[in-house]
Amino acid sequence: MSIAVFASGSGSNFERLVEVSRDQKWPVPIRLLVCDKPGAKVLERAERLGIPAVCVSPKTFADKAAYETFVLAELDKHGIEWIVLAGYMRLIGSTLLDAYPWRIVNIHPSLLPAFPGKDAIGQAFAYGVKVSGVSVHLVDEEMDTGPLLAQVPVLLEEDDDLESFTTKIHQAEHRLYPEVVYRWITGAIKTPDMKG
Ligand code: GAR
Repeated sequence: MSIAVFASGSGSNFERLVEVSRDQKWPVPIRLLVCDKPGAKVLERAERLGIPAVCVSPKTFADKAAYETFVLAELDKHGIEWIVLAGYMRLIGSTLLDAYPWRIVNIHPSLLPAFPGKDAIGQAFAYGVKVSGVSVHLVDEEMDTGPLLAQVPVLLEEDDDLESFTTKIHQAEHRLYPEVVYRWITGAIKTPDMKG
């Protein structure tokens, strides 16, 4: 039993998850990084942390199903039971959803259902909200929907600019995500299939 993290970009959440899982000796280790963006910074982090990475561009496949069938085979090879999306900027398709029912979790940098999609931090800042935050939710077939597992608020204060607001959101993510993933993989958080 092990966890795969999927990421497309910088990978700060990926790194934090690996660090915390090692420090806390999680019963289920993170054994694989799946990346869809060749050259992404997260790949350097994976190498430094000694986590094997699979990185292919979906563009090299005929369609999403073919790409996900390839990914599925990699997940099988590594005995992956849980998928943690950490800045994976791609909609999960039915091939992976069917293979991992309620076993895919995502983090999003807003208080969903507000500001789904790309650049949620910039969207909230431009709107002029007084409070935004971070959401962790199970993944279903749509973008940033699916049952919420946890949310934390982050204040947008008078002296915040986009940079300081972004930093605050990322700090909240780095605190929240490892805590929620740990509770999820150890069964402390019940998924819809576990509820009677
Ligand atoms: C994070 O803020 C994450 O919430 C966001 O991408 C960033 C990745 O940062 N995800 C989404 O917007 C998903 N819709 P990281 O690569 O440094 O972990």
